[in-house]
Amino acid sequence: MEDTILEIKGLSKNYGRIKALSGLDLTISRGQVYGLLGPNGSGKTTTLGIILGATLPNHGSFRWFGQTLDFKSLKRIGAILEHPNFFPYLNAVDNLRIIARVRCVPEQDIERVLQLTGLSDRRKHRFQTYSFGMKQRLAIASAMLGNTEVLILDEPTNGLDPGGIAEIRGLITSIASSGTTIILASHLLDEVQKVCSHVAVLQKGVKLFSGSVDDVLSNTETIVIGSTDLSKLETVIKEYPDYLSHTIRGNYAELKTRGLCNPSEVNQFLFTRGISCSHLSMNKKSLESYFLEITGNHPGADTI
Ligand SMILES: Nc1ncnc2c1ncn2[C@@H]1O[C@H](COP(=O)(O)OP(=O)(O)O)[C@@H](O)[C@H]1O
Ligand SMILES: [Mg+2]
Repeated sequence: MEDTILEIKGLSKNYGRIKALSGLDLTISRGQVYGLLGPNGSGKTTTLGIILGATLPNHGSFRWFGQTLDFKSLKRIGAILEHPNFFPYLNAVDNLRIIARVRCVPEQDIERVLQLTGLSDRRKHRFQTYSFGMKQRLAIASAMLGNTEVLILDEPTNGLDPGGIAEIRGLITSIASSGTTIILASHLLDEVQKVCSHVAVLQKGVKLFSGSVDDVLSNTETIVIGSTDLSKLETVIKEYPDYLSHTIRGNYAELKTRGLCNPSEVNQFLFTRGISCSHLSMNKKSLESYFLEITGNHPGADTI
């Protein structure tokens, strides 16, 4: 049975007349790397604020580990919402000691999180000598203190250079592979596509879509078919067992199927119906083009 970590039901939040979040439903299971994806102002940070108890919703509810949020469940969650403040003149160990004391975590755990985030070698160096990537790694280390089961990150690579971005994405992936559930808010499609297993796309506080990143991709694949007799092709593809829809683009028919696309099966099917294809190819849309399409920001969408 799937182990539900977080269940969100009908969450709404208004700031005056601004609807920051409208009726959000979301279920996150153990081990998922869940991306909240949306442009700036779409309600990602508001959502994270609510589920961490820092922001009160106007409507709706959420449950962590099947319970309402309390001190006990909060101890199982590590979060970095803003750039955390560390003492610049203190080294990594001393900074983590302070946080461990505040959070009532035994000091022995410091060694584990330093190892986990690859900071062991620099443990005795002052925070102010760290690169941005290392600072963010220390922030993640502090959030993981106390063996937290869930890690929440808001725009984790903001302000990092390409090297730092790769470093942090690699770290998130390695933390996820050890079984930690991760909830990551990002306006970067690329980031969600590279790091997350699941995604909820938000626009102006409304969830447009949620599901596994693979499903989003498979839903957006099409098979492009060329034939000398286009009208016959059109009639025949409608009889394909997994037919969902099709569009004609120039001399080609673009077929959408239910589930995963299987070009060789389509080819076989058409052949048995007396159609030989002059062209057959897969058109795999990236999550990016899908995202741009559904958020209505794609200048060139459907111009044919
Ligand atoms: N404290 C606040 N007071 C007023 N408006 C806010 C506040 N926090 C967020 N908002 C508004 O709510 C909407 C969602 O913001 P936010 O959750 O920060 O989006 P995101 O994190 O996706 O960029 C935006 O229109 C933002 O201006
Ligand atoms: Mg935000």
